[in-house]
Amino acid sequence: MTAPQSTDGHDVKDADRIPDDAELPDGQFYDPDAEYEPDPEYAATIAPDAARQRRERIGPTGRPLPYFPIPGPLTERGPAKIIAMCNQKGGVGKTTSAINLGAALAEYGRRVLLVDFDPQGALSVGLGVNPMELDLTIYNLLMERGMAADEVLLKTAVAGMDLLPSNIDLSAAEVQLVSEVARESTLSRALQPLLPDYDFIVIDCQPSLGLLTVNALTAAHKVIVPLECEFFALRGVALLTETIEKVQERLNPQLSLDGILATMYDSRTVHSREVLARVVEAFDDSVYHTVIGRTVRFPETTVAGEPITTYASNSVGAAAYRQLAREVLARCHAE
Ligand SMILES: Nc1ncnc2c1ncn2[C@@H]1O[C@H](COP(=O)(O)OP(=O)(O)O)[C@@H](O)[C@H]1O
Ligand SMILES: [Mg+2]
Repeated sequence: MTAPQSTDGHDVKDADRIPDDAELPDGQFYDPDAEYEPDPEYAATIAPDAARQRRERIGPTGRPLPYFPIPGPLTERGPAKIIAMCNQKGGVGKTTSAINLGAALAEYGRRVLLVDFDPQGALSVGLGVNPMELDLTIYNLLMERGMAADEVLLKTAVAGMDLLPSNIDLSAAEVQLVSEVARESTLSRALQPLLPDYDFIVIDCQPSLGLLTVNALTAAHKVIVPLECEFFALRGVALLTETIEKVQERLNPQLSLDGILATMYDSRTVHSREVLARVVEAFDDSVYHTVIGRTVRFPETTVAGEPITTYASNSVGAAAYRQLAREVLARCHAE
C-alpha cells in the first residue's frame, strides 16, 4: 500500500485518494500517514472494523484519531524532559515501551538517554548488553559520590540513544538508600548534570512501588503507564495513581501523568476490546490514541538485543512506536 502523505499536518483531505474497501485486505487499518508495509495479520489485531475506521478515521480506542505531525528537526538541545515508564505490575510492556519509544524518538532526531532502573536489567539486555559483565552501572552513579555519568554511560546501536545500564547491584541500593539523606531524590540529583545533553530521558521502572520507583517519579516530569489489555489490567492502577499524586504533592510538583498506553492489544478477541473500552472509560483523554498490538515480533527483539524500529523497521509494531513518539511529542508541544 502506498500511502498519501499529508504535509500540513491537519488538513487530511484524502477522501478521493482513499482506496476502495476492495483494495485493502480484510481487517487492514487504513493509515494515510503509513510509512510501512503493513503485515495484515498484525494489522488485524488493532483494527476490528477496518472499513469504518477508514471512513471515520476512528482509532482503536474508539475515538477519532488525530493526526500527529512528523516532528521537525530541533534547533536547540535539551534540557531533557524526563519520562518514567511505570506500573507496579510486571509484564505489561514497560521495558519494551521504554526501548522502542526511545528508539523512535531518536529516529526523529531527538537525543535520548534510557535509564535501566530495574535490577533485573531487562532494558540493558534488550539493547544487547550483558548486565552480568558490567563493572559500573546506575548503582555506582547513585551510591558513589564523585562518580561521573560518563563512566557509566554506554552508547547503543541506535544513533543518538545512550544507556545507563543496571544489574542486580541495584537491588542493594533500595536497602542502602533507606538511611540516606533525601533518599527519594537520589536519582534526580544523579541525572541533573545530564539534562543539557539530551532531549528525552526515559526511565524504565521496576515492577514495584518501592523506593527505586519513588526515585524515578521524583526525577520525572512525566509518567507513562503501560497497561496490558488483559482482565486484571485496571487492578492496582488506583494505587499507582495515588502514589503518583503523593510524589507530586510531597516531592515533585512538576510531575504529571502524560498518558496511559494500552499494550498487547488484540482486537480479534472480544476480551481485549472490552478491556480497552473500560480503560478509555476510566481514563478518558489520558489514554493515548496509539495502541500497541500484540505480536511475537516484540519478544523476538529482546533476543536480537535491539529495538523493533531497527530489527523490523517496516513492521507495524515499529510504526506503532513511531506513532507513539509523535503523540508524545505532540502532547509536549501542546503544553
Ligand atoms: N506488544 C507486545 N506484543 C507481544 N509481546 C509483547 C508486547 N510487548 C511486550 N511483549 C513481551 O511481553 C513480555 C513482557 O514485556 P516487558 O516489556 O518486559 O514488560 P515489563 O517491563 O512491564 O515487565 C516480554 O517478553 C516482551 O517481549
Ligand atoms: Mg521491565
